[in-house]
Amino acid sequence: MNVTVFGSGYVGLVTGACLAEVGNHVVCMDVDANKIERLNKGEIPIYEPGLEDLVSRNSEQGRIEFTTDLEKAVDHGLFQMIAVGTPPGEDGSADLQYVLAVAESVGRHMDEYKIIIDKSTVPVGTAEKVRDKIQAVLDERNKSLEFDVVSNPEFLKEGAAIDDFMKPDRIIIGTDNPRTTELLRMLYTPFNRNHDRIIAMDIPSAELTKYAANAMLATKISFMNEMANIAERVGADIEHVRQGIGSDHRIGFQFIYPGCGYGGSCFPKDVQALSRTAKSIGYDSKILDAVEATNYQQKEKLFEKISRFYSGDVSGKKIALWGLSFKPRTDDMREAPSRALLEKLIAEGAIVRAYDPVAMDEARHIYGDLSGLELCESSDSTLEDADALAIVTEWKNFWSPDFSQLAERLRDKAIFDGRNLYEPSALKPFGLRYFAIGRGERLPE
Ligand SMILES: NC(=O)c1ccc[n+]([C@@H]2O[C@H](COP(=O)([O-])OP(=O)(O)OC[C@H]3O[C@@H](n4cnc5c(N)ncnc54)[C@H](O)[C@@H]3O)[C@@H](O)[C@H]2O)c1
Repeated sequence: MNVTVFGSGYVGLVTGACLAEVGNHVVCMDVDANKIERLNKGEIPIYEPGLEDLVSRNSEQGRIEFTTDLEKAVDHGLFQMIAVGTPPGEDGSADLQYVLAVAESVGRHMDEYKIIIDKSTVPVGTAEKVRDKIQAVLDERNKSLEFDVVSNPEFLKEGAAIDDFMKPDRIIIGTDNPRTTELLRMLYTPFNRNHDRIIAMDIPSAELTKYAANAMLATKISFMNEMANIAERVGADIEHVRQGIGSDHRIGFQFIYPGCGYGGSCFPKDVQALSRTAKSIGYDSKILDAVEATNYQQKEKLFEKISRFYSGDVSGKKIALWGLSFKPRTDDMREAPSRALLEKLIAEGAIVRAYDPVAMDEARHIYGDLSGLELCESSDSTLEDADALAIVTEWKNFWSPDFSQLAERLRDKAIFDGRNLYEPSALKPFGLRYFAIGRGERLPE
């Protein structure tokens, strides 16, 4: 089948590559000429495990190509997938300008029946806006052409995106035309072999399903962070509490790790956008607002601990920082807790020596030569001359460090762990002081 994917970011590139891998002919279109040039040279602009192989194999075999040519892109696919960004607007609601720009282009260049698929995360009512936009441009062109708009939200996780796309938990198809459900069923057949994962529904339900899923996951995290904050104050260890509640099958162990807040390109903006949607229709979403506020506070947690440790004055302190990406196995630093921490430390006069296994280029791109930030070659080299260590991303290579070396090299022998990677008792023999989330040593308020 011929598929066009608009947007060659985390979602668009993975979607295009996976659809090509099973035999489709895919054209990936992006307005970022530099990105397309790099892709055409075989360079992958993002870090996603397995993506480079997948893209190079399929482009060598002629099943995937990259272009900035809109006309060619619209002409190519029966399926026109929209996978462009939907960042938060000024008031926190989803900014639909990129989605609607694609709709405009499709209306401008289509000459036969097309199925337009919203893969981007978009608020309820967006499919209707896309439809209206395309129709308005067709009217302008005096063209009478049939088309359908489908909501098909994407649930892949960065770091495991290819696996998630190839073996999805579910494929949500929101449509008001049964014929399009059948065509999408054909497109997704290779990813739907083991058992039927397709859940067909009306368009508004599909659009809301994506937000509800992300809001639920964010709620679990913020809830657990609140429990950790309570645990700290009552002298409990949140890790015991986590084990205790996770063993209840109704609760489960997934997504109940306490930490220094959630980040990334999805949870923060999606919780916010859903709350703004609710407000726009006169509903006050108390849970969503609390989830967001708790997360905002949680991202300040490590800084507060470090600051209290230094009696409110971190100026001149050198803090080693392990992890920059918002989670392991990605270079994505959008809304990452590392950013809140390093920016606050530097603003207060500290020096941050940071390392991340894959996000160093992204950090350079974001911060350039920011004074006070030293980007290091390895986790080891961050320790040079450092007073204390902060950990914000649970990359596997941080899980089992040489504690005796840490004790020797950290001037103040203090570790601030935003991911609860270590057993507090294991660090004691080395004379290390360990401050984690809802466990470890407590600092006076
Ligand atoms: N990143 C994730 O893990 C994830 C998972 C599920 C859903 N989503 C959703 O998918 C959407 C895309 O997210 P992403 O992380 O891939 O974004 P991204 O920022 O990585 O990529 C978006 C791409 O769209 C391009 N673009 C912008 N306007 C365009 C236009 N008019 N035509 C063609 N290309 C255009 C940009 O240049 C960019 O390359 C968002 O709505 C997001 O919420 C993301």
